[in-house]
Amino acid sequence: SRFSRIAGTGSYLPPKRLTNQDLVDQLAQRGVETSDEWIVERTGIRARHFAEPDVPSSALGTQAALQAIEAAGITAADIDLVICATSTPDLVFPSTACHIQRNLGIAGCAAFDVQAVCSGFLYALTVADAMIRSGSARRALVIGAEVFSRLLNFDDRTTCVLFGDGAGAVVLEASDTPGIVSTCLHADGQHIGILNVPGNVSGGEILGDATLKMDGQAVFKLAVNVLDKAAHEVLDKAGRDASCIDWLIPHQANLRIMQGTARKLKLSSDKVIVTVDQHGNTSAASVPLALDHGVRTGQIRRGQTLLLEGVGGGFTWGAALIDF
Ligand code: ACO
Repeated sequence: SRFSRIAGTGSYLPPKRLTNQDLVDQLAQRGVETSDEWIVERTGIRARHFAEPDVPSSALGTQAALQAIEAAGITAADIDLVICATSTPDLVFPSTACHIQRNLGIAGCAAFDVQAVCSGFLYALTVADAMIRSGSARRALVIGAEVFSRLLNFDDRTTCVLFGDGAGAVVLEASDTPGIVSTCLHADGQHIGILNVPGNVSGGEILGDATLKMDGQAVFKLAVNVLDKAAHEVLDKAGRDASCIDWLIPHQANLRIMQGTARKLKLSSDKVIVTVDQHGNTSAASVPLALDHGVRTGQIRRGQTLLLEGVGGGFTWGAALIDF
């Protein structure tokens, strides 16, 4: 039988870094009151990166992709599938994946975007895994790239302190052994209202309000619940229990959600890869950014077992159990 495995990882953060205090000072000029203490205590976030206004998701995604390609020991020409998870595409169309494909100087292979907000990378990885298993691809580039700073309303302190920009990527390749052991994806469109950007383009104008809206407490409650279910689902599919997990790599939205998830799995908090403190919530980029961070700091090593988890607007959620 045929499986897929992660051959290399990469990531990229735009250079402009804002600490909580930088943001507090900027918001104060607009009359919006917040504090480093509030942000750290409620979320664990201490800093985030923002891309310059003329830098699109594809530019961040291309840098992450180049690193992943190098880490995999291949060249861009070896890639035969490009999937980009993003909710902040460069354009309405063509896809951000097509922009990245062009930036990499490759042509001919399939390239498309997946939109599942903060679960986007889990969705993209699962689709790439399925395409490799079915034989329709051999080496997939799977990217999460976001510029969520563009969606923020800086007069809304309940959301604008939470997000950041960045990109992460993996090269997934065909393998005789797993690799990706098991995955699950879910959505429940009944919860569209608790986390959304209620805008679109029409007749050359923006229709509605194109900034992020969130009922934080409703999201929090749903997130902890579905992340626990997803973890057990992929473990059950693999016939394993949580003791096999060397590293939990959850979506990086809020440290309290991440700790709650680890606690429910009876995993100690030092088995959780944490980047939310330095990146904020980078939506679809957060899981591959955290994965690459863990790899490059030497925390994550070959032969270890990883549990990746995503949750976000939709509501969408998913998980992947991986023998790295
Ligand atoms: N600075 C200071 N005070 C603030 C701020 C701020 N930035 N934001 C809110 N407050 C105030 C509120 O106004 C409220 O004041 P009040 O009690 O006088 O009304 C108080 O702080 C408490 O607000 P809550 O919303 O109850 O705070 P909570 O503890 O729930 O924390 C948070 C809010 C951090 C948003 C939390 O609910 C959360 O993390 N939710 C999950 C969010 C999440 O994971 N989102 C990502 C999903 S992924 C995706 O798809 C994008």
